[in-house]
Amino acid sequence: MTGRLPPEALERAAALLRAGDLVAFPTETVYGLGADARNGRAVAGIFAAKGRPRFNPLICHFPDAEAAFAEVVADERARSLAERFWPGPLTLVLPRRRGSKVDLLTTAGTETMAVRVPAHPLARELLRRAGTPVAAPSANPSGRVSPTTAEHVLQGLGGRIAAVLDGGPCAVGLESTVLNLAGGQPSLLRPGGVTVEAIEDVIGAFHDPQLEEEVEEMLALLARQQGLPSPGMLRSHYAPGLPVRLEARHLDPHEALLAFGRPLPGARLAWNLSERGDLAEAASRLFAGLRFLDEEGSRLGLAGIAAMPVPAAGLGEAINDRLRRAAAPRQG
Ligand code: TXA
Ligand code: MG
Repeated sequence: MTGRLPPEALERAAALLRAGDLVAFPTETVYGLGADARNGRAVAGIFAAKGRPRFNPLICHFPDAEAAFAEVVADERARSLAERFWPGPLTLVLPRRRGSKVDLLTTAGTETMAVRVPAHPLARELLRRAGTPVAAPSANPSGRVSPTTAEHVLQGLGGRIAAVLDGGPCAVGLESTVLNLAGGQPSLLRPGGVTVEAIEDVIGAFHDPQLEEEVEEMLALLARQQGLPSPGMLRSHYAPGLPVRLEARHLDPHEALLAFGRPLPGARLAWNLSERGDLAEAASRLFAGLRFLDEEGSRLGLAGIAAMPVPAAGLGEAINDRLRRAAAPRQG
């Protein structure tokens, strides 16, 4: 049985983490599935519970920048980004400190570590009380949409984890931005809750989507030639069960509608990301909307989900990234 813990049961959740159990907890982005990052058995449990096909490196969560920078080597850029965006939806990949006790399974054996200080007050207090770095991917079964409520977590992982700490719905609703600072030039590994524009305000221009796409394709090609799975994320990572059609400017009668702004007419089933065209509101409603349309649409016998265009600026980059993944051909 997976316990659903109210905010008052914070200490119980922290004790479970310290004991090597799996606890899902709220962050401002999505719910994370937490385990003691120093405990290899506990971290292995994350992969088992999610049914993850591969050991990808996990993000380590900390209550503050000081705790995070005790595990990694932070340069000037990392410090100014932390100053500006922590606590918040930004993850930094940095060289791991020699002597860090974070288990190698957490970082998938690499010499780098992804660190983040979430803004959700319950998460920070939980992390403070756990007293250890907490590894946490999103708390959903592999290949499914990320959870933004405790209810979503229970639907996907109920019975497979010790507990979920219920902190209500997530405010941002999209995963954190992942920025690689471990090499020379910074690179964007995943668009997310902090926009590239805001990051470039602090460390200067670095983002070249065209170039990064080419690099990603080259790496994927190399991986295929060696018979390995693609690096990075599976394209179909955020997949709902019903097929998703992007950039919809008309609606088929058998489609559910994922609207943005003024909805296309004639939908039997619709979810509006943001009637007033607000990207932050749209981000916070994206995963819940995909879930809702998928479940209700399947129940009504609809054939797919038509997603209206979302502008690409600011948070729109991350929203469009998740929509493209939801619409990508399924793997495995
Ligand atoms: O908002 C979030 O980031 C959520 C909440 C729970 O904090 N967590 C999350 O974790 O989305 P996950 O495991 O689903 O995504 C981790 C991302 C992956 O794209 C992974 O490849 C990248 O971070 N990552 C983690 N460690 C890395 C490393 N050492 N080097 C490069 N990429 C890394
Ligand atoms: Mg995930």
